[in-house]
Amino acid sequence: MTKTSNQMWGGRFAAGPDAIMEAINASIGFDKRLASQDIAGSRAHAAMLAAQGIITDKDAEAIREGLLTVLSEIDAGTFEFSTALEDIHMNVEARLKALIGEPAGRLHTARSRNDQVAVDFRLWVRDQCDAADEALTALMKALVQQAEAGADWVMPGFTHLQTAQPVTWGHHMLAYVEMLARDRSRFADARKRMNLSPLGAAALAGTSFPIDRHATAVALGFDGPTANSLDSVSDRDFALEYLAAASICAMHLSRFAEELVIWSSAQFRFVMMSDQWSTGSSIMPQKKNPDAAELIRAKLGRIFGANAALMMVMKGLPLTYSKDMQEDKEQVFDAADNLMLALAAMTGMVETMTPQRDNLRASAASGFSTATDLADWLVRELGLPFRDAHHVTGALVAAAEKKGCDLPELTLAEMKSVHDGIRDDVFDVLGVENSVASRMSFGGTAPARVREQVARWKEILE
Ligand code: ARG
Repeated sequence: MTKTSNQMWGGRFAAGPDAIMEAINASIGFDKRLASQDIAGSRAHAAMLAAQGIITDKDAEAIREGLLTVLSEIDAGTFEFSTALEDIHMNVEARLKALIGEPAGRLHTARSRNDQVAVDFRLWVRDQCDAADEALTALMKALVQQAEAGADWVMPGFTHLQTAQPVTWGHHMLAYVEMLARDRSRFADARKRMNLSPLGAAALAGTSFPIDRHATAVALGFDGPTANSLDSVSDRDFALEYLAAASICAMHLSRFAEELVIWSSAQFRFVMMSDQWSTGSSIMPQKKNPDAAELIRAKLGRIFGANAALMMVMKGLPLTYSKDMQEDKEQVFDAADNLMLALAAMTGMVETMTPQRDNLRASAASGFSTATDLADWLVRELGLPFRDAHHVTGALVAAAEKKGCDLPELTLAEMKSVHDGIRDDVFDVLGVENSVASRMSFGGTAPARVREQVARWKEILE
């Protein structure tokens, strides 16, 4: 026994779809998340149809009220989604028909599901750009707060994860603020480019009805209508740009998460993560694991995966719409959900973590971290060419290594045996505080510079 044909498009069909056909075809399981955007789009469309005299004001009013009822049913959780009706667009329209009867059938005049889904999805992704902006701002504020508290706390700076030069905690925190600011601007950029309305492109070619695409664009908060109907229904660049920005942002979060994993280890002890953002082990009672940081580190996998997946979906599609494009939504939904989760978790961790000032300083002072300061001193005070100073300093490091001490613990006599000209005041630059304070070049790690940047960011993030 075959089912009856689809009530929305089944005019030419004698039989309904196979059950598996229905399963592979239906998107309602996930695109129900576009309900409020779909209804907003339909309301704008209906109002425009009436203003243009394409449908009557009376029908438009019935449609408007009916759509509001549908929305309230969806919000209340009483709406019955049907897989047979495939997607959110047809679910809403079918319910509207049940509620208001004949005028519901006029809503789809001069429109297609192709421009409908394009507009719904743009509205949804646009909201996600705004949500990302807000969440990034909160995280940046938390980082600035950490930077302000520890503007002059000394810690080791690394290259190759080897101790390089002393830096300040505040400087390190602000490095992430810079990255996240670029993320914000990437989302803002993508938002600006996507903010054109595809509604009214209809199936692919435009429509013979005298519609006003500028009016629906304005009603939905767009800067204007898209200019080519073929492009309008087949373009998913906006989703890809969102995913690209999300991927880069998640990559930044992942790098910071990795640092938190390292820093919270017993070997480093640079930070103590709060209990709220840690988990225990079921077998090893001493453990406090940075699971949230590890999960944030992993999130890039699925977010960048979504970006790659949608690229692959789109890459071979001829113009215009193909059903392949229905596979865009789950990727973007999953990426957005996980990006928001990662941002919120990172903000929570940063707000509640406690940097271990003494351990940071002790670590900064080890590993010959002021060797460059010593070389610079030889250049400045003794007039050595930098290459020679580098060589002399290398010999001093070797001497300290042999003695089993750090540079400041070498005696003046030991230093002089390497280079005769070295004087007592060399010890002034060997302290880590002196070292960071001297890095006053613009963008440098000196506490005074960090405080300037903290002030700048506080003003920006107001
Ligand atoms: N559910 C579809 C999607 O997400 C809506 C557009 C369907 N268009 C069509 N011509 N079948 O892409």
